[in-house]
Amino acid sequence: MLRITNATKTFHPGTPNEVLALQGVDLHLEPGDFLIVIGTNGSGKSTLQNSVAGTFMLDSGRIRLNGHDITRWPEHKRARLIGRVFQNPFSGTAPNMTIAENLALAARRGKPRGLGWALNRETRDRFREQVRALNMGLEDRIDNEIGTLSGGQRQALTLLMASFVKPNLLLLDEHTAALDPKTADQVIHLTKQVVERDRLTTLMVTHSMQQAVHLGNRLIMMHKGRVIHDIRDDEKKRMRVEGLLDRFEEVRRVEALDLPAAELLKAAYI
Ligand SMILES: Nc1ncnc2c1ncn2[C@@H]1O[C@H](COP(=O)(O)OP(=O)(O)OP(=O)(O)O)[C@@H](O)[C@H]1O
Ligand SMILES: [Mg+2]
Repeated sequence: MLRITNATKTFHPGTPNEVLALQGVDLHLEPGDFLIVIGTNGSGKSTLQNSVAGTFMLDSGRIRLNGHDITRWPEHKRARLIGRVFQNPFSGTAPNMTIAENLALAARRGKPRGLGWALNRETRDRFREQVRALNMGLEDRIDNEIGTLSGGQRQALTLLMASFVKPNLLLLDEHTAALDPKTADQVIHLTKQVVERDRLTTLMVTHSMQQAVHLGNRLIMMHKGRVIHDIRDDEKKRMRVEGLLDRFEEVRRVEALDLPAAELLKAAYI
């Protein structure tokens, strides 16, 4: 379904600000895989998602999605196959358009332009039912502008829109990080529902160890642009929050060990 081979990405190469954001990432997802991605800040999680979505091109490596080699496809072309939800509730929807208009746009993803998107009675009724299922009391507000909704309500709608036309791949990047705990739980519940109902192949980044433990059938931990742990199936099911925290602690210990070694090396070259 998704096959990333030897992906590398360096930002600001050859300058003092050089960042090796991806250093040879290999990742293969089967259809219906729900992959959780964890890792410290700056470990390359968003870069991995951005490179799959086509926000920028890889320096080297290949990306295949659903039989297509999309490595050089522009972002808008990949968007036909990929649904995305970001951390920022403001980035997924058009604020000056109503809920119904946003949904109408989402329903047209991947279709040729110019067919018109008449909001007839039947379509509006269908939208209202889909919005009702979110359990956020938005069914009577489908003619309100999205800009008037709370962050949690917008995230729930963005998720609905991202999965409207079943995407080949769903990318979620800390999509509940900006929400209060109760709303975050609601959006996570919805995520689980949508992903399981449509068996969506999903790549979800989170800093919540609870989410990492309870969601998905596979989990990777990234560090410095590499995948350093890949936990699946039964091992994933058995994983507990403490187990994950231990792995973060392990990374911290190795870092602490590395530091003096790096200092010594630097000293040797000065
Ligand atoms: N567009 C960019 N230009 C320059 N550097 C970038 C860019 N995007 C990411 N980076 C750098 O690449 C590294 C990896 O960033 P990335 O955003 O992938 O981390 P992350 O794992 O998503 O972190 P976080 O948990 O904080 O979201 C960081 O050092 C970051 O500063
Ligand atoms: Mg990130």
